[in-house]
Amino acid sequence: MIPAETVDLVIRTAVIEDVVGDYVELKKSGSSLRGLSPFTNEKTPSFYVLPEKGIFKCFSSDKGGSVVTFLMELEKLSFPQAIRQLADRYGIEIQETEESSEQQQIRSERESLLALNAWAQRWFSSQLTESKEGQAIGLSYFEERGFRADILDRFNIGYCPDSWDAMSNAAVEGGYNAERLLSLGLSKEREGKLWDFFKGRVMFPIRDVTGRTIAFGGRTLSNDKKVAKYFNSPESLLYQKGDVLFGMHLAKPTITKTDLVYLVEGYTDVMALHQAGIENVVSSSGTALTLNQIKLIRRYTKNVTVLFDGDAAGIRASIRGIDLLLAEGLNVQVVLFPDGDDPDSYSKKVSPSAFSNHLTSEAKDFVAFKLSLLTGDAATDPVKRSEMIHSILGSIAVIPDAIQQGVYLKLAAGELKMSEDVLQSEINKIIRNRLLEEQKAQKREEFRQRRDQVVEKEPSGLQIPADWNSRVAPIDGGAENIAPNEVESHRTIIESDLIRRMLRFSSIEVQPDMPGVEYEGKIPFAYFVIDFMAELGFEIKDPLLRKIYGVFEAFSAENKIPSLDDFLKNDDTEIQSYVVGALVDKHEVSRRWEEVHQIYSAREQDLLNKALMDSLHLLKLNENRREISEVQNQLEALNAAIEKGEEKAIKEMRELLERRKILDQQKRKITTYFGAAILP
Ligand code: CTP
Ligand code: MN
Repeated sequence: MIPAETVDLVIRTAVIEDVVGDYVELKKSGSSLRGLSPFTNEKTPSFYVLPEKGIFKCFSSDKGGSVVTFLMELEKLSFPQAIRQLADRYGIEIQETEESSEQQQIRSERESLLALNAWAQRWFSSQLTESKEGQAIGLSYFEERGFRADILDRFNIGYCPDSWDAMSNAAVEGGYNAERLLSLGLSKEREGKLWDFFKGRVMFPIRDVTGRTIAFGGRTLSNDKKVAKYFNSPESLLYQKGDVLFGMHLAKPTITKTDLVYLVEGYTDVMALHQAGIENVVSSSGTALTLNQIKLIRRYTKNVTVLFDGDAAGIRASIRGIDLLLAEGLNVQVVLFPDGDDPDSYSKKVSPSAFSNHLTSEAKDFVAFKLSLLTGDAATDPVKRSEMIHSILGSIAVIPDAIQQGVYLKLAAGELKMSEDVLQSEINKIIRNRLLEEQKAQKREEFRQRRDQVVEKEPSGLQIPADWNSRVAPIDGGAENIAPNEVESHRTIIESDLIRRMLRFSSIEVQPDMPGVEYEGKIPFAYFVIDFMAELGFEIKDPLLRKIYGVFEAFSAENKIPSLDDFLKNDDTEIQSYVVGALVDKHEVSRRWEEVHQIYSAREQDLLNKALMDSLHLLKLNENRREISEVQNQLEALNAAIEKGEEKAIKEMRELLERRKILDQQKRKITTYFGAAILP
């Protein structure tokens, strides 16, 4: 762990305009510097650096924070990684500190395992290129398959000799212990002796996003169908199969640059694409895509092109992955290869430019792709055709964005030569069934919660004044008019408003006006908010705002108030962006900080008390209840029509269920918010 003082020193030493200047051309603008955002493609500069404060604010992406945040966002680094990079740049030495003994154990175990894997990777590589056996068997195999030496090198390909224990012995001799060889799956044990799990295989190191070897895949060179083509390392402290995409650490920069990733099946496909000059490519290593893998992709791009192996089994396996990608809101395209070819073999048959052309000219959206599978039999066989149509509609139904869903629906209607209405009603059925399933699950969950609540019923000392609802003045605009699905976002707006005020006026002294509590004199605004919230048992619900509020709470427990710098030391980029956003307005960036503070102080100070009251009582408990019963009534009124299968009714029901779900979520939030005292 990096000691806090070193983190401080690094942040204080780093010159933000200097670091940012490596990426952005900055021009002076008042007391700040201005340039084109490196996070978007903007044409007019709205990216500011405030050297005085050591912060940046990007108005087009809404990101903001310290120099550390900047590196984290731009280079996709973790907080410690960014600190290390800056420490490096400014020649600051980092002396790691003590962690808790458990943390320390896990970390040092991880490091030992990483060291062993790093050693093994080097050893396998040297066997491939330097040993007679490796050259004769491993290297010649890759040569035969047409892989260039620089590509083997880029992927750190290796070879594990075909003797029982050459690797295990070398490892033990090198001081690595048997336990770790076993836990990484490099060695197996029989009768007290270690033997090499990967013996006689060519080795593909699997690396994490930062390039460290966390596992291996080993390919047999035998054609014996009974021998598994690949052995892969078992899961370990370092390796969770579903979290990794092969090739990601090499692909990152190109994915960001091209805003696109190619998804292939195999290790060799990734290597082949690199050899053809295409580097934004990763592989799920032959298994079904996981949610974590998709999230990993989403960190870099929303656009995925899936390259299928040409054989039917491969296509069937990967088709399932498409729906998962769509459901996560990614834009999916698909490229097929001629029958029997995979990206690797095809890339070896044609020139790099022809290959590259194939990827662009053959890319189809998934509707067109699924339709293109409707050839031969399927085109004329009505059963197969209807299966295919259902498969297409199923994919469209998972798309979260309604507009995109509509676009694909139109497309499908055109391609299938069917009416949009018919397809729409099919999709509604699919969605309705899914919602009903979800509702059932939710009911079960609610039941569980209610059951648990009975047990925990004891109120937590929370005392809400019986007349709290009438005592607090109504808010401008009339709360009556809030649409049900706005209540939630309204809530976040109110919370956000409160937190922004806390950030701006934290230390301004106010005379608290809280029913039932006597205050001798003025106290800082931040304390007042915290006292009041605690008194009423109110909480901030929005996860991000909750975190920021937590910082205030933690500081106030020690009679302190967090400063801007305290927030900038936080390793959470979301917090930093938010805090900077709350403190920096577009028209303010060129003014001096204190000046700005003064202006706002004067204008809003005396409103603080009221603002606080406003923020705290705005929960629309009654509203929520009324809405729920209304929706319930409407649902019941629809029952008969739904029984008859009327499309309009089903559509309406779908909307009502969706609305109901939102209301239920809110209700649960609100009731727990008030505690057991005023549960219905
Ligand atoms: N795979 C595996 N175990 C197997 C077969 C395959 O783990 N027994 C995984 C590997 O990650 C492999 C991917 O599935 O890379 C795709 O399988 P396949 O197409 O059979 O392998 P390729 O990588 O294409 O290997 P090659 O080109 O050498 O046939
Ligand atoms: Mn393959």
